[in-house]
Amino acid sequence: MAGGPGSYVFGEEERKEVMDVLDSGFLFRYGKEDDPKFKHKVATFEKEFAAHMGAKYCVATSSGTGSLLCCLAALGIGAGDEVIVPGYTFIASISTIILSNAIPVLAEINESLTIDPDDIERKITDKTKAIVPVHMLGNPCDMDRIMAIAKKHNLKVIEDCCQAVGAEYKGKKVGTIGDIGAYSLNVFKTITAGDGGAVVTNDYDLYERAFGFHDQGHKPSRMGVEVGNRSFVGMNMRMNELTGAVSLAQLRKLPMILDTLRAKKAMLKKELMKVEGLGFRVINDPHECATLLTILLPSKEIADKLGEKIGSKTISHSGWHVYNNMEQILDQKTAAGNCSCPYDCTKYNKPVKYYKHMLPKTDDILDRAMNISVGVVDAGLGSAFGININSTEAEIKSVAANLVAVLKEVL
Ligand SMILES: Cc1ncc(COP(=O)(O)O)c(C=O)c1O
Repeated sequence: MAGGPGSYVFGEEERKEVMDVLDSGFLFRYGKEDDPKFKHKVATFEKEFAAHMGAKYCVATSSGTGSLLCCLAALGIGAGDEVIVPGYTFIASISTIILSNAIPVLAEINESLTIDPDDIERKITDKTKAIVPVHMLGNPCDMDRIMAIAKKHNLKVIEDCCQAVGAEYKGKKVGTIGDIGAYSLNVFKTITAGDGGAVVTNDYDLYERAFGFHDQGHKPSRMGVEVGNRSFVGMNMRMNELTGAVSLAQLRKLPMILDTLRAKKAMLKKELMKVEGLGFRVINDPHECATLLTILLPSKEIADKLGEKIGSKTISHSGWHVYNNMEQILDQKTAAGNCSCPYDCTKYNKPVKYYKHMLPKTDDILDRAMNISVGVVDAGLGSAFGININSTEAEIKSVAANLVAVLKEVL
């Protein structure tokens, strides 16, 4: 079954929370606090999610994409602003910048498969407003260096934590290190409600703006339509009570999910470490999500040969998350200066070209990299094979033994 670890551990807890909502008949996130029938699952999820992350504020949303849009809107990023984002990420990290009428500037990754701080520095111009570090495949970015660069150049930091719900960097949960953080609860994520998302921040003003953007400009926790109290034009990205119910049950399972994944990944990695000449991606903090094990082969040729033998693909060829495969932005399709927004973008934006192989370091790493599932079974990430959160020790050993045998053949 394709999906993330949360989807593999659905059980009575999710059912109970959902039935609570269905029995109440209140599916909208707002209701009267003193009505015993109203179960306020979304509000409870927000409170518990913020507490879990160690953040002051949380807005529950309908998706990770919506969460990123709320973050950009909260920070006031718009026409003419450049935002630096890695070339290895999901399209939403880039498209949300375009949809905010700003300009994504693609940066290289390093062997952690997250944004390369050296390249961030090279890409900064006088138009740069923000950096979007993406904690890719559950691995926190090098946040010490990124925050130092942001401070030096007075830039905002939006953490894209969509693939890293619950990961920690130097004792802090990702999403609470920069100015604001976005999470996804889609089916491939650490915890899931099918779809859904969250935004966290410690800054009340950013919270108020993110909340307003997710709900037609309303102030946080409105009780009804607060005419006269809306200073902001927003959208509808609200989470409903059914999604809130599942999200809540999943959030309470997050520590168990992460402990299990970390133990199973360690078991799998220990076996593969016996193979001479095999590399692994750099992990920036051992408290990563451990949803995937990424191996690095010495050359593209060897990596392709391995792919053929095990019926999988290198990350370069696995689709979705590589800028070379994002036809939506390549060859000026949606790029700044060519969009249909109501502004005259060309007045502010120099045309930006995105083209195949514009990031040679990223290409080299992804040509040699292969994802093995530990908890995220997703062909789109090239991780349709490996283990899952429910794999037994015997199954893990068997998968490892098969891989070791093939690796020894190709290396
Ligand atoms: C890095 C990253 N950012 C953003 C998103 C968007 O999340 P959603 O699918 O919930 O909109 C995803 C989802 O795959 C993602 O992996």
